[in-house]
Amino acid sequence: MPDPLPKVLVTGATGYIGRRLAELLAAGPDWSVRLLVRNRLKVQASLAGQVEVVEGSTFHPEGLAAALAGVACAFYLIHSMGGSEDYRRLDRESAENFRRACIDAGVRRIVYLGGLGVREGASTHLLSRLETGEILAAEPERIETVWLRAGVIIGSGSASFEIIRNLTQKLPMMITPRWVRSRTQPIGIDDVLSYLVASITVPCQGGLVVDIGSEQLNFQEMMQQAAEVMGLKRILLPVPLLSPRLSSYWLIFFTPVPYRIASALVEGLKCETILQNDNAARLYPEVQPVPFKMAVTKAMAELENNQVLSRWCDSSGGEACDIKDFDNPAGAVLRDTRIVPYSRGELQQDVFRAACSVGGPNGWFRYNLLWRLRGLLDKLVGGYGLNRGRRLDRDLRVGDALDFWKVVDLREGKRLLLYAQMKLPGQAWLEFDVQPDCLVQTAHFLPRGLLGRLYWYAILPLHHFVFSDLARTVVRSARKE
Ligand SMILES: NC(=O)c1ccc[n+]([C@@H]2O[C@H](COP(=O)([O-])OP(=O)(O)OC[C@H]3O[C@@H](n4cnc5c(N)ncnc54)[C@H](OP(=O)(O)O)[C@@H]3O)[C@@H](O)[C@H]2O)c1
Repeated sequence: MPDPLPKVLVTGATGYIGRRLAELLAAGPDWSVRLLVRNRLKVQASLAGQVEVVEGSTFHPEGLAAALAGVACAFYLIHSMGGSEDYRRLDRESAENFRRACIDAGVRRIVYLGGLGVREGASTHLLSRLETGEILAAEPERIETVWLRAGVIIGSGSASFEIIRNLTQKLPMMITPRWVRSRTQPIGIDDVLSYLVASITVPCQGGLVVDIGSEQLNFQEMMQQAAEVMGLKRILLPVPLLSPRLSSYWLIFFTPVPYRIASALVEGLKCETILQNDNAARLYPEVQPVPFKMAVTKAMAELENNQVLSRWCDSSGGEACDIKDFDNPAGAVLRDTRIVPYSRGELQQDVFRAACSVGGPNGWFRYNLLWRLRGLLDKLVGGYGLNRGRRLDRDLRVGDALDFWKVVDLREGKRLLLYAQMKLPGQAWLEFDVQPDCLVQTAHFLPRGLLGRLYWYAILPLHHFVFSDLARTVVRSARKE
């Protein structure tokens, strides 16, 4: 029997915006929802049975036909920024493939969310977002395109919010370079989602560009207002000098984001980014963007109540899925295994839960200081360090960032596998294999050349303390539960 509801396709459904949009559309009565993802294991469990999931990539056009069959409206929430230096080319290729596949499949409309701003003085990141919009909208006579353009998005887990929150909470006094005084128009994530949903049906003849944002503010004002929401007093001292590059380094030390995201934000804010059209107010009168302070209040509440649905680090935005092929450490040649026994069947579930609660604010137990030092070293060489923390206090899902690890396999009650995203001369995994009568915890390492081996043997004495403590404490804390 044909599905009576019009079908929408959400691409980028494992990313920051896409996860939230998929959840919202699936909860409503109006649409039948299909997701295009590169790895179905990353789709949140809450969507099971509510949406159709198709695996594919815009770089493999042959698979796009199946994802787009019968679709009335397709959301394009994809970018390749994390992958390579060449991301502009990849973004163009991806958009071309997608538009062609949509036309071939008879899709009526593409809805795209890109960046706010104009070409003049645009950062490479923004240029790429503008080019993507132009490519998607290139054949208005064959397919409609609603192109939403947003600047700073404020929501729990968004990169901009995490930067503002971390700077505000960590630094009582801050020197502020010139770029923090460029005007922009931030917008709350809920309003972005409202615009996206309304874009399925908004009247559009061929193509529509809709700039979205709330009140005009500069980054300094955003930090001051965020401090007020958090009940903090902050002193901001303007300085004429502090190059965007230095600012980006400054951001990576005090916030969780890596250099690529910090510099994209700084470069993006060097020039004014304000709305260039009033289409949002004219065509979406039902959406009234909330002021910045209210968006911050909502984001803070979600953090405090453990309700963060997606984060900036859910996806790398790279050419391939960030957990692709990393879920099997069998090729590793060096291992450190710790086995902690317990009575058969007694603790299995609790040990699994305890293993899933390590990291982030819960820390890494007795040798937390050593883990922190490792995190700092990682930051110093351009890695994530420990600052990404964890999304929720207890729960994990495949694709979650956990300090400098990424969850690449999670089998309820049985196995948690973490892949190291720290800067290393090789590849590393940390596996918790929860057996009925013991915990088998293994650090796997696949060294890169001689340096990799030297690294492994140099830190072996530390492993002795750190990993045996970790395995024992996981079982001990399960006993206490
Ligand atoms: N987040 C913001 O603050 C913000 C602000 C303004 C505008 N925007 C715009 O919103 C859109 C979505 O951004 P986001 O922050 O949600 O991105 P994101 O978190 O990095 O997610 C990107 C998504 O795209 C998927 N993807 C990447 N390349 C793909 C490909 N070739 N084929 C299929 N899927 C692919 C990723 O899948 P994997 O999980 O497999 O990697 C992931 O689901 C972008 O156009 C961005 O410019 C975002």
